[in-house]
Amino acid sequence: MRSSRRGLPPGPRWPIAVQSLLLWRGIDRFIERCMDRYGPVFTIRLAPMGTLVYITEPEEIKRVFTGDTSVFHAGEANGTVLAKVMGRHSVLILDEDEHLRQRRRMLPPFHGESVRRYGEVIEHVTREEIARWPMGAEMELHPRMNAITLEVIMRAVIGVEEEARLAELRRLLPGLVSFGPVVMLSWVYPRLNAVGPWRRFDELKRTVDGVLYDEIRRRREDPRLDQRADILSLLIRGSEGEQPMTDEELRDQLITLLLAGHETTATGLAWAFERLLRNPAALARVREEIDAGEDAYLDAVVKETLRLRPVIFDVARKLKKPVEVAGYKLPAGVTVMPAIGVVQRSGSHWPGPRDFHPERFLDAQPEPYTWIPFGGGTRRCLGAAFATFEMKTVLRTILSELDLRADRPEPEPPRMKHITLVPARGARAVVTWRHGAEQGSFREAQASYR
Ligand code: HEM
Repeated sequence: MRSSRRGLPPGPRWPIAVQSLLLWRGIDRFIERCMDRYGPVFTIRLAPMGTLVYITEPEEIKRVFTGDTSVFHAGEANGTVLAKVMGRHSVLILDEDEHLRQRRRMLPPFHGESVRRYGEVIEHVTREEIARWPMGAEMELHPRMNAITLEVIMRAVIGVEEEARLAELRRLLPGLVSFGPVVMLSWVYPRLNAVGPWRRFDELKRTVDGVLYDEIRRRREDPRLDQRADILSLLIRGSEGEQPMTDEELRDQLITLLLAGHETTATGLAWAFERLLRNPAALARVREEIDAGEDAYLDAVVKETLRLRPVIFDVARKLKKPVEVAGYKLPAGVTVMPAIGVVQRSGSHWPGPRDFHPERFLDAQPEPYTWIPFGGGTRRCLGAAFATFEMKTVLRTILSELDLRADRPEPEPPRMKHITLVPARGARAVVTWRHGAEQGSFREAQASYR
């Protein structure tokens, strides 16, 4: 066995500002180039996170994901940019015992079986959305997917029912979830909150908080609380043996679910369309199987999309103590970054790694820790089953109702948006009703939904 080395793994020596700029311009290109030049473990420096050590081998990623949670702090690393908006009780920014306590209370509504109860809402929201699409004209699918996933969170997670309240949140929430680096500056320099775009963001956050606290109060007072299926009601009811959540805890978890679950799922969906529309054989097969009421190929399409176009390129664990990682004795304070986007597209683990080939998930299971779009260990995405189910339901509904074609044959390259990689041209497509005659039955089905 290789003896561990002191010091940091190799990496670019440019100033932190240059490295940050290169990373924000295109994390996939920058990280892949670093790996080609420095090997499977390397160091970069990034503002405001500091020193990052990237790891790209599945065995090392496994060790970090399953490592001691008092050494590997995911919450602290996530909190660098997210704590201010998510709040101090957010499951995403906590660590150790308090993280486990919050996570345990949130797990039941997110189990595979539990999320199926949202199938009807997701399908209804999708049908309402596509009924407004301009048939025969070019359109960007990505913003439409954002609208669908936002609506699903408002209805299935927060449980909003009143049309006026839905309209208010539709207006407010996009501004809150789409903050960029400019807004983040005020989290490093709080004095900025008094002026310009930062003051507006702060006001928006307070307005949204007001609406959420009001929803929490209404839910608590609702005599039908025991029959309600939305996630907020389930969290308020809680599970036996667990302490009930306070209003502040509920608010923080709602904002967390909104921020973690809305744009991520929409981006996954946008990529699924972008890839399917450029792979006619896969598109034909998925439609055939949907028509036949089968699920396996659709499941494989979702998995292959998240492999080839991971929405989140890397995850972070900040070291609280010196520890050996990938043959290096790393000091406390360094952040270790399992590189999802590298291991999922590595030629050593995936044949034809750049091809969109859902069949690979029908024939075999991926090697451990080579398919990790939802991260891993005790920090694995809480909404993984929800997101997969939602993606499948939206794809099934749209593909059974509409014909779609890409506006041009060239693939859309990935572009950075906040911390995610999105299709650069918004997943542009032309859509038409699939069976002209069936449009009527579609509308009837919609009208019969209550
Ligand atoms: C395709 C869609 C999604 C992707 C690709 C995704 C990916 C991720 C990743 C990579 C992490 C970090 C895991 C780690 O650090 O090891 C994460 C965490 C999390 N995600 Fe998701 N996510 C998606 C959708 C959702 C949805 C729909 C929800 C909820 C409605 C959600 C809620 C969360 C939460 C609460 C965490 C924090 C878990 C913890 O720290 O214990 N995500 N997600």
